[in-house]
Amino acid sequence: MTGDLNTYMKESKKLIDDKLKEFISHSEMPKDLKEAMLYSVDAGGKRIRPILMLATAEAFGASKEKAFHAACAVEMIHTYSLIHDDLPAMDDDDLRRGKPTNHKVFGEATAILAGDALLTQSFEVISNSSLRDDQKVTLTTLMARAAGPSGMVGGQIADLSGEEQALTLEELEYIHHHKTGKLLVFSILAGAVIGDAHEDQLAHLRQFGEHLGLAFQISDDILDVEGDQEKIGKLPGSDESNNKSTYPKLLTLTGAKEKLASHYDEALMHLNQVSVHDERLRSLATFIIERDH
Ligand code: IPE
Ligand code: IPE
Ligand code: MG
Ligand code: MG
Ligand code: MG
Repeated sequence: MTGDLNTYMKESKKLIDDKLKEFISHSEMPKDLKEAMLYSVDAGGKRIRPILMLATAEAFGASKEKAFHAACAVEMIHTYSLIHDDLPAMDDDDLRRGKPTNHKVFGEATAILAGDALLTQSFEVISNSSLRDDQKVTLTTLMARAAGPSGMVGGQIADLSGEEQALTLEELEYIHHHKTGKLLVFSILAGAVIGDAHEDQLAHLRQFGEHLGLAFQISDDILDVEGDQEKIGKLPGSDESNNKSTYPKLLTLTGAKEKLASHYDEALMHLNQVSVHDERLRSLATFIIERDH
């Protein structure tokens, strides 16, 4: 990673971390709920989605300040999805972001409610921003669609019903595209909406995001096989023990890595067609999918 990108990511992460804590800490709510929400938010995720949103907004000439509310909102939704994803009824995982999962510390009921609270508050965070009203309407509509039944939640249920079954590559692509791709695409498009991008730019950015999202989840599947617990902050082998269909399982590790590389190339091809200053987005994309291999 270049020094420039490193600094950019550190600064953006700090902004997001501070604002997220501020939004939650300043909300009036029962103490145990706040504690559970802050526990998972504070647990040191990579903040890929909000950083992508800030970087896209800035590529279109908008300031970070204009984008940080929506950036925090998507991280709140992502964090909620992880808390629920780890529950015994779902992936039943014990470690997340290097710490015991939310339900291990606070119990299942509180973990479910902390997730519900993060999801709901994320919409309020966008409403309270100083964006124009038309941008708020566009962002909340896109975010609801990306997170909901035709987005992440739809992908999560398809992932669960695919357990113990041999899925086709097409079915697996549907799962990855929805459970992971939709929120990544939203993050990129939201940055572009904040920066008042044109329709044709949005279309290429959508394709950029879709390929990046697939590459990112393929990379996550590979790390579940060969990742280092210290680095990934979760216990590898979760997919195997839940008998999930994954890219490595369907295509072998080598085949999965080839697929990852081809989605990465396609992503960059679309990024090249957005006429905007894209150096930072390009290096961020590289960082996101290279992660550990
Ligand atoms: C993990 O997402 C779940 C997936 C969608 C692959 P991240 O790898 O972005 O997790 P954090 O936010 O850094 O913990
Ligand atoms: C999770 O996919 C995607 C969402 C949480 C929406 P995984 O189940 O593969 O994510 P990890 O590996 O637990 O982070
Ligand atoms: Mg899962
Ligand atoms: Mg999981
Ligand atoms: Mg995984």
